[in-house]
Amino acid sequence: MHRVTAEQIRKRKSETPIAMMTAYDAAFARIAEAAGIDVLLVGDSLGMVVLGYGDTAHVELADIIRHTGAVARGTERAHIVADLPFGSYQAGDEEAVRSAVALVKAGATSVKLEGSAEMASRVRAIVGAGIPVMAHIGVRPQTAALDSGFRKQRDVAVLLRDARAHAAAGAYALLLEMVGDEAAAEVTAELPIPTIGIGAGPSCDGQVLVLHDVLGLYPNPPSFVRRYADLGTIATDALRTYAEEVRTKRFPGSLAAPAR
Ligand code: KIV
Repeated sequence: MHRVTAEQIRKRKSETPIAMMTAYDAAFARIAEAAGIDVLLVGDSLGMVVLGYGDTAHVELADIIRHTGAVARGTERAHIVADLPFGSYQAGDEEAVRSAVALVKAGATSVKLEGSAEMASRVRAIVGAGIPVMAHIGVRPQTAALDSGFRKQRDVAVLLRDARAHAAAGAYALLLEMVGDEAAAEVTAELPIPTIGIGAGPSCDGQVLVLHDVLGLYPNPPSFVRRYADLGTIATDALRTYAEEVRTKRFPGSLAAPAR
């Protein structure tokens, strides 16, 4: 079975909205694919929701390589976007291409990088090497602590400048993080490639959320998140029952009890 390609995603501009979700391991990637998610993002949110760091800056290229491999092994059809983590593309276009190649070797079908118009040369270089790129503008968590933080971005002129630069450099899609609804609508209307929003309102061509926020596996998700399940509570209850049954010897049960 062929994976959804970046070109197929690019053609979904103004069509049925694109459903994108983060995934970090084979088990949840399999579940997300079975649920019909079009695009799986091995995001550097990995650092926070799986590895336990307070931000994404600690994530290494080797982390994303390992988790991209797991997501690829767990799926057949979904498009897999792998995040270029902080420090894997800042030094120059050549470093960016080398890092992107490593992610494709691990199983990615495209890569994502954060950056304003100044990073468009990285997009051009990676696309020139034959690897599709999703660009990420608006709030950029990798460097948020160094610039405007996690404030909603509403400056349409700046957003349009960045968006146009990435589209001209060959990006097949643009992720808009925490962009004001009206600005996101303007960028989406103006751009020839699909926009995927997170905290950017309803006008984008697709939406992405962090899996652990959606499933209730991470405390204090951002306010724009909709929690579709509370697996954290379900898992805690299940494990409490297991612990209790071990302590009271109800598990594993008597030798005569039938196996499950
Ligand atoms: O790493 C990530 O999960 C992201 C989200 C903001 C979409 O880039």
